[in-house]
Amino acid sequence: MTFSAILGTGRYLPQRVITNAELARTVDTSDEWIRSRTGIRQRYVAAENESTCDMAEQAALQAITASALAPADLDLIIVATSTPDLIYPSTACLLQKRLGIRNGGAAFDVQAVCSGFIYAASIADQFIRSGAARRALIVGADANSKILDWTDRSTCVLFGDGAGAVILGAAESPGIYVTRLHADGHYADLLQVPSGVSRPSADAHIRMHGSEVFKFAVNIMGELVGETLGVAGFDAADVDWLIPHQANERIITATARKLGLALERVIITVGEHGNTSAASIPLALDTGIRDGRIKRGELLLLEAVGGGFTWGSLLVRY
Ligand code: COA
Repeated sequence: MTFSAILGTGRYLPQRVITNAELARTVDTSDEWIRSRTGIRQRYVAAENESTCDMAEQAALQAITASALAPADLDLIIVATSTPDLIYPSTACLLQKRLGIRNGGAAFDVQAVCSGFIYAASIADQFIRSGAARRALIVGADANSKILDWTDRSTCVLFGDGAGAVILGAAESPGIYVTRLHADGHYADLLQVPSGVSRPSADAHIRMHGSEVFKFAVNIMGELVGETLGVAGFDAADVDWLIPHQANERIITATARKLGLALERVIITVGEHGNTSAASIPLALDTGIRDGRIKRGELLLLEAVGGGFTWGSLLVRY
């Protein structure tokens, strides 16, 4: 049997940091309010001329180096993003060109908002298990700052920009045990950017009913972790690290509590990064690996919920 294993990870955060105190000078908010409701202390914001593909490229190059591979070894590229550089070609095709790959394997984008990385990883896992690909680059990258209404205090304090990348390779043992993907489009109104190509509107900004999203996220994440472990035949006690989507520290804490997992076993980056949408899980994973907390052989549970609503999880032995 063939499984997918994590070969390497990488990340990119833009140079510019915006603290809560800086935001409080332009909108009616405070460092205390943002920290106590979300755990966020600061976020990184892309430069005006810096795009999602620019960030994805830096994260991808780091992941390729960490995997000791060359770009030509990759036969699948999936970019999870809701803020692509262009309507088309996909950011994955633009990235493939930046990496100098000619006549390569499949390259495409996945749009599942904050669950995008889990969706992309699950798709790549199925390519690898079936033998359709052997080495996949998965990038979660979002330039949320470009779709924020910087006068809306209920959203602009929450999000940030960045990119995280993971290379999955074919292996004889897990690797990924299981992935779970879900969606329910009936919740579309609760979190959306209400403009698009075939139905354009003047309001192309993130709009959210925060408290309803919060309640849904807490409930569904609690259910999802139980479902994932059940399907894979593991107990919560087997999990070494929870690597959740980084939207709000209170949602993360509630999920850890549900699992009975001490907060010391949870990678939490929301304080430094804010919510970077599709980039949040690979950024957190890379953080835990590079600072030495996550070690080879440990069992990692990744989970996310996002606009759609979409939600999903991935259980992997690192
Ligand atoms: N600064 C100060 N006050 C703010 C504020 C800000 N940045 N943003 C909102 N408020 C105000 C609201 O206007 C409201 O005031 P009112 O009671 O006078 O109307 C009050 O704070 C409480 O708002 P509420 O929405 O009930 O707060 P909350 O405890 O639910 O926290 C969120 C708000 C957004 C932090 C929280 O709902 C949340 O994290 N939701 C989920 C977000 C998320 O995960 N999104 C992405 C999913 S992928």
